[in-house]
Amino acid sequence: MCRNLLFFSLCITSIGILVSSGMVSTNPKFVRFFVYNQKRWRLEDGYEMRLSNISSILNSGINPYTPVKFLIHGFNHNHRCWFPQEVKDTFLRQGFDGNIITVDWGRLATPVGTEPFASLAYPLCVRNVKLVGEIMTELVTILIEHGMLHMESLHLIGFSLGAHIAGIVGNSLQRRYRWKIARITGLDPAGPFFYTGFVGRSLRKSDAMFVDVIHTDMAQYGHLGALGHADFYVNGGMPPQPGCKTPSCSHHAAANYFLQSIGNEQIRACGCTANSVFSSGPCCTFTTVFGDLATPEARGKFYLRMRPQFLSGMYNC
Ligand SMILES: *[C@@H]1O[C@H](CO)[C@@H](O)[C@H](O)[C@H]1NC(C)=O
Repeated sequence: MCRNLLFFSLCITSIGILVSSGMVSTNPKFVRFFVYNQKRWRLEDGYEMRLSNISSILNSGINPYTPVKFLIHGFNHNHRCWFPQEVKDTFLRQGFDGNIITVDWGRLATPVGTEPFASLAYPLCVRNVKLVGEIMTELVTILIEHGMLHMESLHLIGFSLGAHIAGIVGNSLQRRYRWKIARITGLDPAGPFFYTGFVGRSLRKSDAMFVDVIHTDMAQYGHLGALGHADFYVNGGMPPQPGCKTPSCSHHAAANYFLQSIGNEQIRACGCTANSVFSSGPCCTFTTVFGDLATPEARGKFYLRMRPQFLSGMYNC
């Protein structure tokens, strides 16, 4: 009986994946890059760099003397969603004097079709993570080779599957050129299909000089366990986050908390010295700045309490 049940569910899952395999694009031309800065704020004003047109990259106005941040969205999203748009807006409002590049891989992250097959297409989007990472690596390589970007001022910020894309970029640049990105921030890196490395390669701390990770939905949509040099567990890192009624709310809380930290040095998290045992519960032998202004020297696991804040509502999804 049990065996039949197992066989039955495996069978349904395989059929689902087969049916849904035509539902997610794998076309690299649907991976797009938009540049924003103090002169280009609005969603529609993003300047598009096209890998197929080198002069569109060279004319982007990105210069190596200011920092560059890439914002990479996750499953079922695109670059018009509040992550990355609202995060970009907050950086610019806080006076960020550099370029913010939003990565749009929405066509490769969003199944077309109806439930339940759309959800079964998630593994196909996981498979696309590597492809998007490779395409992004190509763009970063061009920027570096033309002296428009320095590793030391590069910060990749990825939400959910986007965190793993950032990891692939960091890893590829090291393997090919021995270049190491200054920083990767993982906002509740996706958990499902990233534990064994069989389908998806997970973000890890060797991917950048400093890898910081914010956990809010562990063991649900979010990854369980420490992935960075510094791992921040907000409200314990588990769902439900305050005021959240759905798993996706707790997952998104990581991006919401990061947004609140932009330009704000006041949000601090508690850490332990190496010899105090964390499993015995959060302790607080010292504190460190949380979020965007975290210090690159921060090491270990950190705890803090926060609440999601209301967003402008200007953007969907
Ligand atoms: C390439 O990009 C430049 C902008 O830098 C634009 O003027 C030109 O028309 C583009 N070429 C093609 C073939 O799209």
